[in-house]
Amino acid sequence: MIETPPLTRSTLLTNPFDQFADWFEAAMSADIENANAMTLATATKDGRPSARFVMLKSYDEDGFVFFTNYTSQKGQELAENPQATLVFYWVQFHRQIRITGKVSKVAMVESEAYFNGRPRGSRLSALASDQSSVVENRQVLEEKVDELAARYEDVDVPHPPRWGGYRLVPDEFEFWQGRLDRLHDRFRFRKVSEEWLIERLAP
Ligand SMILES: Cc1cc2nc3c(=O)[nH]c(=O)nc-3n(C[C@H](O)[C@H](O)[C@H](O)COP(=O)(O)O)c2cc1C
Repeated sequence: MIETPPLTRSTLLTNPFDQFADWFEAAMSADIENANAMTLATATKDGRPSARFVMLKSYDEDGFVFFTNYTSQKGQELAENPQATLVFYWVQFHRQIRITGKVSKVAMVESEAYFNGRPRGSRLSALASDQSSVVENRQVLEEKVDELAARYEDVDVPHPPRWGGYRLVPDEFEFWQGRLDRLHDRFRFRKVSEEWLIERLAP
């Protein structure tokens, strides 16, 4: 485990995006596999939750962007309930970050640009896979990929409109730093009338 300092009110950065960048960049430069993997929790409109990992592809003060299939389970849940939470955990640093807010689709041109930059194999799979639907067997998927590979042999794999990005705009962050004897440090940022209210939480 990498030795990490305690998180105190005086070391905590006052802008949660800066604090996120500080921890995220530390994890990304620490040779951690999939350091940008995060749990995405969503819920149906009547509150039944579901969670899965997705990859954080970009972030700035406008929000946190990931890419997926809009007709997947998560896509359907986000369509009926746009509230979601992201959770990062980096075991080597003993750090967890939780981010909650409202999610919306990114502009189609942004999704298209990202899709076109992916490896050909990933683009074919995205086109072939109606994510989260029931499939008879693996062969069905492989045949679909082969058929699409032949169809688009000499041309670019087209971006399917059902595939794209979402941006979560946070109104709450929590930074958790593991400490000895489970007396961990936790700080929550909540957006209250355009200001970030910072509170220490009991571990
Ligand atoms: C480390 C990791 C990263 C993943 N990244 C993504 C991703 O960026 N986008 C995505 O659609 N699925 C990703 N997946 C697959 C999802 O976890 C999930 O199986 C898929 O999106 C379908 O989820 P749903 O049925 O809840 O919509 C990832 C899985 C793992 C284990």
